[in-house]
Amino acid sequence: MQRLLVTGSSGGMGRLLRERLARPGRVLRLLDLAHPDDVVASPDLELRTGSVTDPAVVARALDGADAVLHLAGISVEGPWPDVLDVNVHGTWCVLDAASRTGARVLLASSNHAVGMLARADAGPQGVPADAPPRPDTYYGWSKTAGESLGRMYADRTGLDVVALRIGSCFAVPTNVRALSTWLSPDDAARLVEACLAAPSPGFRTVWGISRNTRRWFSLAEGEALGYHPLDDAERFAADVLARAEPDEVLDLVGGGFTEYVLGTTSRPPRP
Ligand SMILES: NC(=O)c1ccc[n+]([C@@H]2O[C@H](COP(=O)([O-])OP(=O)(O)OC[C@H]3O[C@@H](n4cnc5c(N)ncnc54)[C@H](O)[C@@H]3O)[C@@H](O)[C@H]2O)c1
Repeated sequence: MQRLLVTGSSGGMGRLLRERLARPGRVLRLLDLAHPDDVVASPDLELRTGSVTDPAVVARALDGADAVLHLAGISVEGPWPDVLDVNVHGTWCVLDAASRTGARVLLASSNHAVGMLARADAGPQGVPADAPPRPDTYYGWSKTAGESLGRMYADRTGLDVVALRIGSCFAVPTNVRALSTWLSPDDAARLVEACLAAPSPGFRTVWGISRNTRRWFSLAEGEALGYHPLDDAERFAADVLARAEPDEVLDLVGGGFTEYVLGTTSRPPRP
């Protein structure tokens, strides 16, 4: 029996993945600050409540787990102290506890780790999955910090850590940028399964995107790990383009995040 801990399981991705990751021979253990009413514990579904910033909570949640999908965090730009506490300290809590149990760690990183990269600078295969940090926000920086911390634990303790630079994981792509950056929920589950099944990956960084016709990011590193996405945002293109915002930021990887006043999700007025 495999036990998979999912942190941040009540959020958007957690909800999309919960049923997709359930399978015979696996117990899902969900950890979040609170659980939705429709989620009921069963022998295959264990519910834990608490903060990933509490080392004792995380250590108990990891007890007996083979792997952890670490989704919990502040998922947009936010004030520095909050981002530092939840995204950096919380990720340390997960990595440090996992280094003591040997559980494989799948970190939810983000395209915003390299958000300031100009798309024009990407090679013909798209932005490589291990492109050096070019964070666009405190949020993006926190994801680079998590990746780097994961690399340190992999190097120092032999932990398997895969950092998933997720594009836009929603039920459907909602803007023009997402036609390039979409990660379909089914492909997100395929990515998690590939990361769990890969023999001794060590430390890796892979893009979490679908096989989008307009993709900006390389699929090579994911494919090397056994991730073969099947979905393509292109089937939504006509709808999305019909209601496209004229001022969407499309030249930088991070899109609209590159315009945020740091620590907030507001933008200065355009000149
Ligand atoms: N959805 C995307 O397109 C996308 C893109 C790039 C990266 N990511 C990353 O993937 C992860 C999941 O994204 P999401 O869209 O589901 O985010 P979300 O904001 O919908 O969900 C985050 C979840 O984390 C939980 N959480 C926050 N602080 C916590 C704490 N201290 N302890 C325990 N749980 C806590 C929240 O309660 C929430 O359920 C995030 O780390 C995000 O940064 C997501």
